[in-house]
Amino acid sequence: MIDTKNETISEKVTLLLSKMTIEEKVGQMNQYNGFWDVTGPTPQNGNAKKKYEHLRKGWVGSMLNVRGTENVREVQRIAVEESRLGIPLIIGFDVIHGYKTLSPIPIAESASWDLKAIENSARVAATEASAAGINWTFAPMVDISRDPRWGRVMEGGGEDPFLGSKIAQARVKGFQGDDLSKPNTIAACAKHFAAYGFSEAGKEYNSVDIGTSTLYNVVLPPFKAAVDSNVKTLMNSFNELNGVPVTGSSFLQREILKGKWNFNGFVVSDWASMRELIEWGHAKDKKEAAKIAATAGSDMDMEGYVYIEELAKLVKDGTIKESILDDAVRRILTVKYELGLFDNPFLYCDETNEKEQIGNEAHHEAVLDVAKKSIVLLKNENNLLPLKKSGQKIALIGPLANDKNSPLGSWRLASDDNTAVSVYEGLSKYKENTLSFEKGIDLIEGNTSFTQPLKVNNTINTSEINKALQIAKNADVVVMVLGEHGFQSGEARSRTEIDLPGRQQELLEKVYEVNKNIVLVLNNGRPLAIEWADKNIPAIVEAWQLGTQTGNAVAEVLYGDYNPSGKLPMTFPRNLGQVPIYYNHKSTGRPNPENNVFWSHYIDSENSPLYPFGYGLSYTTFKYSDFKVHNKKASINEDIKISVKVSNTGNYDGKEVVQLYIRDLFGSITRPVKELKGFELIELKKGESKVIDFTLTKNELGFFNNQGEYIIEPGDFEVFVGGNSAENLKETFVLE
Ligand code: BGC
Repeated sequence: MIDTKNETISEKVTLLLSKMTIEEKVGQMNQYNGFWDVTGPTPQNGNAKKKYEHLRKGWVGSMLNVRGTENVREVQRIAVEESRLGIPLIIGFDVIHGYKTLSPIPIAESASWDLKAIENSARVAATEASAAGINWTFAPMVDISRDPRWGRVMEGGGEDPFLGSKIAQARVKGFQGDDLSKPNTIAACAKHFAAYGFSEAGKEYNSVDIGTSTLYNVVLPPFKAAVDSNVKTLMNSFNELNGVPVTGSSFLQREILKGKWNFNGFVVSDWASMRELIEWGHAKDKKEAAKIAATAGSDMDMEGYVYIEELAKLVKDGTIKESILDDAVRRILTVKYELGLFDNPFLYCDETNEKEQIGNEAHHEAVLDVAKKSIVLLKNENNLLPLKKSGQKIALIGPLANDKNSPLGSWRLASDDNTAVSVYEGLSKYKENTLSFEKGIDLIEGNTSFTQPLKVNNTINTSEINKALQIAKNADVVVMVLGEHGFQSGEARSRTEIDLPGRQQELLEKVYEVNKNIVLVLNNGRPLAIEWADKNIPAIVEAWQLGTQTGNAVAEVLYGDYNPSGKLPMTFPRNLGQVPIYYNHKSTGRPNPENNVFWSHYIDSENSPLYPFGYGLSYTTFKYSDFKVHNKKASINEDIKISVKVSNTGNYDGKEVVQLYIRDLFGSITRPVKELKGFELIELKKGESKVIDFTLTKNELGFFNNQGEYIIEPGDFEVFVGGNSAENLKETFVLE
């Protein structure tokens, strides 16, 4: 069927392009930061006066970090009323996990494995952001990462390409909705293209050296999934990949994205990443940087001053063809048309709607819902949890226990400081227990901010510790809230240790000496190495940074009003030395213990992680049985039908993420020991059983070879099902 709407847009774009000067075309490819928030190195050349002047000339296609209907209206007014052609701006912002009302940080939400809840969370974020004038979010981040040292794992979907792809699609759908021209839907941006999550040693902005197999099979699939979901834009990244800074990579942007995948949206650079081609030693000056980036298919320059200063000259002197500009501008204008901006440039600037939507009560309910679903129960010895609701003395201890700021997490420029419900406030609502609180120690010295480094407190105040020990001694149960401050993960927050920062481990051990009945609630933006806690502390709850409703979500889980159902989207190592550790690793040639030392292992640590990918407990228990592969011999084009019975064998109603993994035993490119290829989140009443069906199709049974071709090879497969990646029932099938 011919899409007449797009035909019309295409014709309109052609007509508009024919009227544009080279400078105006370059202008559409130029994005300036606004005048308030800064999310990268301070701009070198841009001052407000110059930016206004360029707006008037039609030399700005987009602005980021302008928010609020009043501010957006003003810059938009200049663009449409004062520039020659009146082309509206597209207004970008990092709506990463909510706008004002915050959902859990993305890694936390990913732990819900609840695609509907994730989509809904993005919908809420889009509703608030669009009401504040924004029509383009720089999300979702779909970078797969295996390295918890990298601070930005908090922003992604974890380590697995299959789960990551599903989450990418859910988020794109949540932001973009079904009709982009509606005033409450915004363009999404899959970032960072590509391989940023593999920064060497987890160090921010670092080089990446990975093989083609990892690129095609692990890094690219979530981007492809986003493109298949009609994501309107992609952002490239700060890293180089195998020697080429990706902002200048024709291979990634022209050959794969716009070639093989036929992507027809546009690519924005990351903040000044075009200019950084010079720092990388890839371009000798801005002129060369502009040439490389434009030729490579980077369509818009974010706060880099490279296109605006150099691109027109390069076209005029014949160094690059004007058709490169035409292609980029066509892409950008098309998205603006699709957003409805040409029909009404002030579509997203309705002050009444802004007042109604920002912080709306329904949004609080929605983020509470996804916050509960994001919590992962890591350990629950002797059923210490859920807590009894009356007659208990609860001691709440820890520097994060009454913090209203840290639970908001990183990336929350539009929210107000200190607006999270703290764990203390959440637990206080259960009034039939006695709750006392002592922080014990401070985690951070001084102020915290998104742009400045923070200082971890390494001192101990004995009298504070003693107060904490005192309440611990007298308590039936101690709840300790420890972990990372919200600004210890996120961009430019790489760590070389992944333990409990500051003196928290010491506090934990001291409290343990006086009362062993401890529930450890972790707040963190990355997997932490907590081997001591796992060995000694009876109950451990992974509560990440859960956003505005943090304390209410944690309290509902601790008291059993919500039975935890989250599963880890990233492996938790025993120690830093195991990193990178991930479930879908290769076999090696010596995978099994030998009666001598010559097998693949460490001499000072087990190979297994502390908690595997996909792991998470519930207050109830589930049993898997009757695992069947219905066609154990199949031709290469046939689907494989699988079923398994899951029973709730415990004392609570509960939810379980039923996970399906395969192993292709022999491949022309060796295959991982396990690969997630299906999952279903089910709800079972106590005593209830359900049969769950899975189908493996050609989309799940193959892989990419080193030429980037998708192939399915005949041979023997194993298939596993279970509640995490390590404990599974096993069956086999053969593809002929
Ligand atoms: C980040 C991007 C972000 C951009 C704009 C950069 O520093 O890497 O993810 O979207 O800033 O704020």
